[in-house]
Amino acid sequence: MDFDLSEDLTMIRDAAREYAEKWVAPGAAERDLTGVFPLEQFKKAGEYGFTGICVPEAYGGPALSNQALVLVLIEVNKACASTGVTLSVHNSLLTAPLLKFGTEAQKAKYLPRLATGELLGAYSLSEANSGSDAAALVCSARADGDDYVLDGTKLWVTSASHADLFIVFARTEKGLKKHQGITAFLVERGTPGFIVSKKEHKMGIRASSTCELVFENCRVPKANVLGEAGRGFPIGMDTLDGGRIGIASQAIGIAEASLAAAVKYAKERQAFGKPIAQFQAIQFKLAEMKARIEAATLMTLRAAWLKDLGRPHTSEAAQAKLLASRTANFAAREAVQIHGGAGYLEDFPVERYMRDARITEIYEGTTEIQKLVIARSVLEAK
Ligand code: CAA
Repeated sequence: MDFDLSEDLTMIRDAAREYAEKWVAPGAAERDLTGVFPLEQFKKAGEYGFTGICVPEAYGGPALSNQALVLVLIEVNKACASTGVTLSVHNSLLTAPLLKFGTEAQKAKYLPRLATGELLGAYSLSEANSGSDAAALVCSARADGDDYVLDGTKLWVTSASHADLFIVFARTEKGLKKHQGITAFLVERGTPGFIVSKKEHKMGIRASSTCELVFENCRVPKANVLGEAGRGFPIGMDTLDGGRIGIASQAIGIAEASLAAAVKYAKERQAFGKPIAQFQAIQFKLAEMKARIEAATLMTLRAAWLKDLGRPHTSEAAQAKLLASRTANFAAREAVQIHGGAGYLEDFPVERYMRDARITEIYEGTTEIQKLVIARSVLEAK
């Protein structure tokens, strides 16, 4: 067992740090206030190879590992969680399943442009009455000649305001068990009958976009079915296993940023004649934050390592997300507490971290869903 980062991973981590500090951190607070989508930051990520991290060289990508993706996402999320989720969804919820389940024609058509950041990807599973119970979705797709015709409304679609390519899950057969008869489709922006509708106003990750999608008589070619028709649900779940590693990475980034801000403030702020960092009450908070961040990071890298080896990682990804998202919320809350009244102001970044951290316990499967997934694996283990 070797806990050191390899030379390659260290180089990637350092490049991601440079990208995040130079191109993402400046303006992050401003974008949070104005809600301006981090498209420029996304395009710049393309120049660094961060928009197609695991894409093979044959399709124009750098062919890096999922461990590299974790390290990149941690660095980006330290600077801006809105840019972080945009990159996470693009890499793990759109590009990864296309790579794994796509036909050669689909991969040749889309992967090179996804890898350079020319195209932005999104993932659309949830609906008004199917969030945690994803298999209850009702958006329909009926076969008609060479096409499927999609009808229905999807919700909570990250990056939808600017995305070019979407994976959309719709029901193609009725009367089966609810997770059967669901098909995954690749849907291009601009397809007639496909409307990106209402944009949500959120507590955190305010520069990222979250929208409703409406499909009305929307014809999607059969050639755009991802994987086997009727077998979309397992594709959606397999994809979320990877996505959860991405959100765990996001949570670690937010937690690390919270710790760094807390340390800086604790060294500067004087009370009772000395810096507050000299008080044990503050030191214990910093120590607890640090230990939890280290644990979450190891768990997340382990889940990515399993994914890189092609081994099962459903439970490990859920464990990483469960612990990392809790860590982000704990660390951001403690960072605000260490800042006292200043932490409650927009003048310091910790109030943004606290708002951004909250979503990591909700999207790509709530904390409760992660526990359900882990408990199933524990109970099924021989
Ligand atoms: N990988 C591959 N296949 C899987 C799988 C996985 N991780 N988990 C389940 N499956 C397969 C099962 O093997 C089964 O397949 P068969 O047809 O061969 O039997 C099928 O899927 C059904 O599995 P379950 O019986 O376990 O399904 P379930 O209805 O009990 O649901 C669940 C399980 C874990 C609760 C699931 O519904 C779930 O993860 N819910 C949360 C959904 C979620 O995370 N949504 C977030 C959406 S994205 C988002 O947040 C917005 C964004 O843009 C970022």
